Amino acid sequence: MANNPVYLNGRYLPVEEAHISVLDRGFLFGDGVYEVIPAYRGRLFEFESHLARLENSLAAVRIDNPHTPEEWRGILAPLLEDGTDQYVYLQITRGAAPKRDHLFPENVPPTVFAMSSPIPPYPERDTGIRAVCLEDSRWDNCHVKAITLLANVLLRQEAAECGGAEAVLVKNGFVTEGSSSNVFAVLNGVLVTPPLSRDILPGITREVILKICRESHISCREQLIAADDLRQADEIWIASSVREIVPVVELDGRPVGGGKPGLVWQKVNRLFQAYKQSVS
Ligand code: PDD
Repeated sequence: MANNPVYLNGRYLPVEEAHISVLDRGFLFGDGVYEVIPAYRGRLFEFESHLARLENSLAAVRIDNPHTPEEWRGILAPLLEDGTDQYVYLQITRGAAPKRDHLFPENVPPTVFAMSSPIPPYPERDTGIRAVCLEDSRWDNCHVKAITLLANVLLRQEAAECGGAEAVLVKNGFVTEGSSSNVFAVLNGVLVTPPLSRDILPGITREVILKICRESHISCREQLIAADDLRQADEIWIASSVREIVPVVELDGRPVGGGKPGLVWQKVNRLFQAYKQSVS
């Protein structure tokens, strides 16, 4: 954690001084939503897309958006003043009601929290990671970026205990996404990723990858991926704001393609890095 202050309900404070009530519904019920937004050299990456997704998440759980886009920008700016690469974590909960009750409280302001953390180096991006397939045990609203992440946490931990850096989740025989990432595969020379649905988070990195591929005439498709087909893939990647685009070189103990980051990844990663530079 950098020395940057954190933002809590209208104030900037050292992290040690930022406190919320034990009655906060985020703490008691996991009743809230969040965003993770990278900022390169102090500039928020794909900010409008992140705000649009935040708006959708808030609407899905029926919390009013407490701020306009300009207000959000103003709130986050002081967290990024040192101009280094950071990612912003932003969380909104349904607030602290006077007593614990499952029903929505009335006239309770949401809790708004934001902090920035340095983006750590991630050398595995160039060498690739191991992943394991696990049954997707999450709920029916995975398109909502809800703070209720216990299933994701358990799946990621299980993957780690099997020697994997990510869990590739499978539901009814089809790949959904990673425990904290979207999944891509190169199948018969075509880049594919599962289509948007309630089973996956509409990842911003995923959207940028699709845009880059369309613009560069790299053949890509949004289509369901059978878990059996994934095992035959020439390449598998995971993608997220924190890890960017990472090749999976081993799945369930077997090498993916040649067991090294593939050519399509090399090309798309190069384009992604150039796009990042061009907008930040
Ligand atoms: N998670 N799917 C899930 C379940 C995720 O948690 C994430 C990101 C993604 C990728 O979305 P994006 O490209 O917008 O980061 C897909 C963040 C990084 C997190 O929870 O820390």
